[in-house]
Amino acid sequence: MKIATVIGARPQFIKAAAVSRVLRTQHQEILIHTGQHYDANMSEIFFEELHIPRPDYNLGIGSGRHGAQTGAILEQVEEVLITENPDALLVYGDTNSTLAGALAASKLHIPVIHIEAGLRSFNRRMPEEINRVLTDHLSSWLFCPTETAVKNLTAEGITAGVYKNGDVMNDAFLYNLELAKEKSNILQTLGLTSKSFILCTIHRAENTDDPTRLTQILKAVSQISQPVVLPLHPRTRKIVQELGLNSLLEQVKVIEPVGYLDMITLEAHALKLVTDSGGVQKEAYFAGVPCITMRDETEWVETVEVGWNRLTGADEGKILDAVESFTPPDDRPSIFGDGHAAEQFVTALER
Ligand code: UD1
Ligand code: UDP
Repeated sequence: MKIATVIGARPQFIKAAAVSRVLRTQHQEILIHTGQHYDANMSEIFFEELHIPRPDYNLGIGSGRHGAQTGAILEQVEEVLITENPDALLVYGDTNSTLAGALAASKLHIPVIHIEAGLRSFNRRMPEEINRVLTDHLSSWLFCPTETAVKNLTAEGITAGVYKNGDVMNDAFLYNLELAKEKSNILQTLGLTSKSFILCTIHRAENTDDPTRLTQILKAVSQISQPVVLPLHPRTRKIVQELGLNSLLEQVKVIEPVGYLDMITLEAHALKLVTDSGGVQKEAYFAGVPCITMRDETEWVETVEVGWNRLTGADEGKILDAVESFTPPDDRPSIFGDGHAAEQFVTALER
């Protein structure tokens, strides 16, 4: 098949790194980068270090409000799809690039393949939830990482074309961990020793766009007794500056966003992860590091159910309490597959 893939944001580059390698052994892939993320440390670094094929198209859309950004991607992806006339369009996850790609293809009667289908937070105030629900309802092939995702789709009446193949981020993590041990010097560069620090990420709109929530989170982070490393997402950096909250980060080791090999090294050596990221919650589980999730709900419910992830919302006291006392059980059952989700995906496409 000729498959056009639309990617645009950091976690999609990582997912594509795992999938493209396998997909291209059987199929022709046309890679479309929307340009939703564009800073070198949010985009280019992943293409270089993970050997992601160069995009055939870079749409250079950049940042914007939801309507403007989604609309611009929709318009330009449509042009590319008309030119390329692929047999199917592949999208990942739940960003504006995902939804715009799926919408462009479905209006042209090009079947949509959704990897990371069926995830739900049941919170429609999250832009990601709207993107996921709509993308799933536009898709012909729905690849679910977990059993919960399959059940969520069933509950919405989507049963045809649904496959459970495991999580392609697990593939990426397992594939790159050894490489990271060889190549990453991030612990030495930052003067850190293993299991002596907390790794934190903050970027989700429900936290950054609500000054009360963001302030609570930063207050909590500023009081953590261990050293805190915070690779700061550009969205959060901008808002922290606008709100004049920089003083809450004085005790925190704030660094620029890092590449994937440095990130998984930091994750594996952290005492705990404190995050609102979807991908980082899963990577905490892959790495066997306790995760504290600063959200009111999560799509990755299994990680909470088995006791390795604790939801604190943006509550200063709950975050601090979890950093001090949260201890997961010894047992860490397999939730996300065996590291071969991309192969299972390509095999299912052949059926
Ligand atoms: C997007 C996704 C979110 C995902 C995240 C991954 C949507 C609605 N949200 O959020 O689901 O978790 O990517 O990181 O699609 N910016 C830069 N440089 C960049 C990219 C962004 O400075 O290279 C700044 C800009 O000020 C921009 C802001 O970050 O306005 C937000 O970027 P955007 O892509 O709209 O959303 P994210 O918060 O990155
Ligand atoms: N990540 C990274 N560098 C960073 C922060 C995150 O490589 O400085 C990786 C992280 O390991 C994970 C992915 O980016 O694979 C998660 O993306 P993000 O948190 O931006 O988005 P989400 O998963 O919440 O959509």
